[in-house]
Amino acid sequence: MQIGIDLGTTFCAVATLDDRGRPSAVPNRDGDILTPSAVYLSPDGSAVVGQPALDMALEQPDRVATLIKRKMGLPEYGRPVAGREFRPETLSAIILKKLAQDAATQLGPITGCVITVPAYFDDTRRKATMDAGRIAGLNVLDIIDEPSAAALAYSVGSGTRETSEPPQPQTVLVYDLGGGTFDVTLVKLGKKRFQVLAIEGDVRLGGKDWDDRLANWAAEKFLKEYGSDPRTDPQSEAMLQSTTERAKRSLSKVEQVSLTVTHAGHRLTVPITRAEFETLTRDLLIRTRLTTQQVLAQAGLTWPQVDKVLMVGGSTHMPATGKMLTELTGREPDHSLAVSEVVARGAAVHAGIASAKANASGESKGSDELGEIVEISVNAHALGVQIRQGVEQLNHKLVLKNTQLPASAEEVYYTARDNQTRVRVRILQGEAHQADACSPVGECWIEGLPANLPKGSPVRVKCGVAANGRIEVTATDLTSGRAAMAAILRPGGLTDHELSREATWVRNLRVQ
Ligand SMILES: Nc1ncnc2c1ncn2[C@@H]1O[C@H](COP(=O)(O)OP(=O)(O)OP(=O)(O)O)[C@@H](O)[C@H]1O
Ligand SMILES: [Mg+2]
Repeated sequence: MQIGIDLGTTFCAVATLDDRGRPSAVPNRDGDILTPSAVYLSPDGSAVVGQPALDMALEQPDRVATLIKRKMGLPEYGRPVAGREFRPETLSAIILKKLAQDAATQLGPITGCVITVPAYFDDTRRKATMDAGRIAGLNVLDIIDEPSAAALAYSVGSGTRETSEPPQPQTVLVYDLGGGTFDVTLVKLGKKRFQVLAIEGDVRLGGKDWDDRLANWAAEKFLKEYGSDPRTDPQSEAMLQSTTERAKRSLSKVEQVSLTVTHAGHRLTVPITRAEFETLTRDLLIRTRLTTQQVLAQAGLTWPQVDKVLMVGGSTHMPATGKMLTELTGREPDHSLAVSEVVARGAAVHAGIASAKANASGESKGSDELGEIVEISVNAHALGVQIRQGVEQLNHKLVLKNTQLPASAEEVYYTARDNQTRVRVRILQGEAHQADACSPVGECWIEGLPANLPKGSPVRVKCGVAANGRIEVTATDLTSGRAAMAAILRPGGLTDHELSREATWVRNLRVQ
């Protein structure tokens, strides 16, 4: 059985396809659709994932990891968990193992999965996510952008595929504000064609930032009253975080709540209104508004050309997001999606499409129809190579942002010395002109060139972005016309050796 996994910053969800190729969420063993993205490492050497792990953060914060997704792409989680430094991939793998384990108790053995990533994730973070899946022992069929997954689930669920008349293609804006990331994507939905037009986003903006504003506001009040700061004590801070997150949720429904802060033997209860909360966080909302305007400009569209606005992600429960979108776009956003599971459902559809295409004999579920769907995406960041101009190191863009994928571009380089057998090319992602303002994907070494090449021999390098946003490089020695070896060395990325070491560790870890 294949599953789609929404690996969120704060919550995860799993979905699968039924016999007719329709997606549905798979609850965890406790019967919940959402599993908190929290890992508790117990003194007995086992791991606990989900709500119980989150609860343990109140007692033993140093044994609990949360918000791991914000660290994806970095070499370390950033602080020790149960006394040990971890890679973000390994901590994510523990969560994935638990999700797959729970799904397997209901569905039987899991043969493959699709994991979702924020559309704005760069290659380094995409690789880290795929590696997390491998460390968890999963067969990762593909990754898919979260807003695309949501739109895919929407198009399947809204019956777009099932009407006999081909419906008019719809242009849909997906505004996805989750716990830790923000993505906004424009998609064109046709009967059998699913095309992303443009992507914008922010990998460090989500519900957590709204929580932090509220927590800091309450902590300042506490500090003023008692002269002591609850943010300085891990336990008080964990309590403060959990209280403010709950208060924030309540403010989506009621106009006023009270927040209680406990620290150093004192207790302070402060009331806050929704209007005050919205004032505290106004600039965060404005950031999402600007990004939404940008994506429209990138696609060269105007608001009347957008047929629908879909809201995805738990943070769109905040009434201010819907109000802002109505005012900006001139239409009521669609609240009909089950925001907590729609991304996982779309990932399950994508898994179905991928396997139906791979398995054209039509053995998989609902594969006739799924196999006919064409999915087209764009790259969220420009792809370039570093070049030197005078004393400056610049980003020479080869594939522009929002180019339809897969895409590639070629560039010819010349050897600098006689007998040069390898060439190094630095690959960059980003819009900036200066190389050091971009994210480095890695160094690509082109090796195995013939030994006797004279200085100035041409080598052709082809940089490509695959349909799922991953970067690939190939090279040809133009003198012999033969392919040369080209591998990208990713600076913070896991090597195959490290990957199998981590996978062994996670395989032997008892996760519940
Ligand atoms: N009723 C509500 N009002 C306000 N915020 C809410 C509400 N319900 C959930 N949230 C917030 O939504 C966020 C979780 O949303 P979601 O599950 O979509 O995010 P995620 O998938 O974990 O994160 P990401 O997609 O950014 O990786 C949390 O910050 C949570 O506090
Ligand atoms: Mg999410």
